[in-house]
Amino acid sequence: MMRLDKFLSSQNICSRKEAAKLVREKRVAVNGVIAARSDMKTDPERDIIEVDGEAVAYRKYLYIMMNKPQGVLSASSDRSAPTVIDLLPDDLKRRGLFPAGRLDKDTTGLLIITDDGDFAHKMLAPKSEVYKLYRAQLDKPLSDKGKASLETGVTLADGTRFRPARISFNNENDRTDVFAEISEGKYHEIKRMFAFVGCEVEKLQRIRVGNLSLDENLLPGEVRLISEKELKSIFSGHNS
Ligand code: URA
Repeated sequence: MMRLDKFLSSQNICSRKEAAKLVREKRVAVNGVIAARSDMKTDPERDIIEVDGEAVAYRKYLYIMMNKPQGVLSASSDRSAPTVIDLLPDDLKRRGLFPAGRLDKDTTGLLIITDDGDFAHKMLAPKSEVYKLYRAQLDKPLSDKGKASLETGVTLADGTRFRPARISFNNENDRTDVFAEISEGKYHEIKRMFAFVGCEVEKLQRIRVGNLSLDENLLPGEVRLISEKELKSIFSGHNS
């Protein structure tokens, strides 16, 4: 059971304070009856809660897309540097939010922030084979040989094995601008795999996870909610 005002704020309809106002204005109904108090108990799984006559579709968890800027840590809290959670607007700040998967401090692009641990676990599990697409700017052109070895999978000197990556170029005439798609997410995987073939990654951006692409309208640091349909697209198999 959950208080009505808490329910409305948890669904990002309004703040708790605004919820009290909506209730006073008789704009909120629970199971067809105008709500009398904003602290009334509701059962989000069963009750039909309407605002201005429109049912609020209950979402237990939050799923947020961020265009991660450079210089920000993919962590929940840190004493020395700002984190992606610090960047969230107040109306989306909620206990328990964390980034599902990490991007390095200097990596930009698509980051998913959620409070759904099972979802994050599933998305990150290698057996789910959720491909993540990156665009890397290299210090020198990737050779045919380098490309071929990344495409068959490499084993680093320390024994770390990387699964085959899908490699392509934005433009064949500039082999420093490379798309790389991987299904694992080992520590510094993209940087280490390019280092293995003699290239340094100067800039790295993530542009897609599964079939969910970074929203081009999001400026660095901006966020928006991910729809149910988009959420499913993360696991909808990926045909490059
Ligand atoms: N691989 C890296 O090396 N860095 C990232 O941020 C993501 C993937």
